Amino acid sequence: MDDSPRTILVTGGAGFIGTNFVEYLLRQTDVRVVVVDALTYAGQRHNLAAYEGSGRYVFVHGHIENAQLLYHLCRTCEVDTLVHLAAHTHVDRSILQAQPFVQTNVQGTVTLLEVARQIRLRRFVQMSTDEVYGECLRGECAEDTPLLPSSPYAASKAAADCFVHAYRRTYGVPAFIVRSCNVYGPYQFPEKLLPMSILCALHDEPIPLYGDGSQRRQWLYVDDLCRALWLLCCIGEPGQVYHVSSGVELTNRELVAQILQLLGKPETLMRSVPDRPGHDRRYALRWEQLRCFGWEPSVQLEEGLRRTVAWYRDHRSWWEPLWYGEYAQYRRQWYEQVLQSGVRQEG
Ligand code: TYD
Repeated sequence: MDDSPRTILVTGGAGFIGTNFVEYLLRQTDVRVVVVDALTYAGQRHNLAAYEGSGRYVFVHGHIENAQLLYHLCRTCEVDTLVHLAAHTHVDRSILQAQPFVQTNVQGTVTLLEVARQIRLRRFVQMSTDEVYGECLRGECAEDTPLLPSSPYAASKAAADCFVHAYRRTYGVPAFIVRSCNVYGPYQFPEKLLPMSILCALHDEPIPLYGDGSQRRQWLYVDDLCRALWLLCCIGEPGQVYHVSSGVELTNRELVAQILQLLGKPETLMRSVPDRPGHDRRYALRWEQLRCFGWEPSVQLEEGLRRTVAWYRDHRSWWEPLWYGEYAQYRRQWYEQVLQSGVRQEG
C-alpha cells in the first residue's frame, strides 16, 4: 500500500529548516503543505510568499500550543503527516533564559502529541538534534546512546523526544525522531555561527569565537537534510530514531577560516571571546541507517559554503532588517554578557 504523504503539516515552516523544507516539498514533490508558524523573531512569512495562492500551500499564523487551531487544521486540511520543526534552537538564548525553551519545545510538543492522538496520522516526525546526547569526545553517537544534554536548549529537546517516545508507546502515536548534526544554508537566522560569521565578515566586524575555537561539529547542507526528511516522511517507521549527518567534522576555527577565505577577508577578523558556559566540545553522529535507505549527502562542504556565502551576499534585503533590527539589541546584550561571564571566570 502506498502510504506516502498527501498533505503535510509543517510546524515552524517559516524558520530556517522549515523554509528550505517547504520549498523542497513544493518544488520536488506533489504534496500539499500547510505551514503553522508563530512568526517569532526567527520566522519570516515572506520567505515563502511566492507560493501563497498556488493551491498547494497554506500559511497559518499560530502557536503550536494552540491545540484547537492545530486540531481544526489537521481535520479540515486532511493532514496525514506532521513534521514538527517549530522550536527555539539557539543555545546562547537558552542560557540567558530557559523558560521559553520549556514552553515551546516541551509544552508545545506535548500539545501537538495530544492533537496527534485525536486524529489519524500516518507519521509524526519529531525534528531533534545531536545535542541531546551531550558532549561526544570520542567515536560517534548511535541512536540508542543515552541522552545527557548540557544546555537548557538541549535539555528541552531531550525532554520533548522523551514525550514523543512515551506517546508512541502509550497511545500509539505513529511518531519517530530525526536527529541531525549542525545544518547550514540560506535563510538561517544571523545568530548562528555560520551566518553570523558571514555577516560580520561582510561588515569587517570581528567574529566572536568561543574559547580557542577548537570545538568540533559536523556540518550538513540544508538541502541534504530536506531530502532526508522527505524520504523519512515516506518510509520512516514509528518508534525509530534516525540520524542525519554528513560525517564532515571541523573545528569552529577551521569553518570560519573557510568562510573568510571565500569572502577574501583576513583571518585576523576571528576574535576569541570567553567560552560559552557548559559548551560541548564535540558532537558526532553515526548515520548508517539512512545510508541503508539510499540517502547520502550530495553537497560537499566547499560547495555548500560557497552557495551559502553567495546567498547572503545576494540577499541583503532578507538579512538587513534582521541584522539592524531587534537582533542588533540582542547582539549587544549577548556580547556584554559574554564579556561579563569572562570576567567572572577569570575572577
Ligand atoms: P551554533 O551555531 O550556536 O550551534 P550549536 O552550538 O548548536 O552547535 O554554534 C556552533 C558552534 O560555534 C558552537 O561550538 C558554538 C560556536 N560559536 C562561537 O564560537 N561563536 C558564536 O558567536 C556562536 C554563535 C557560536
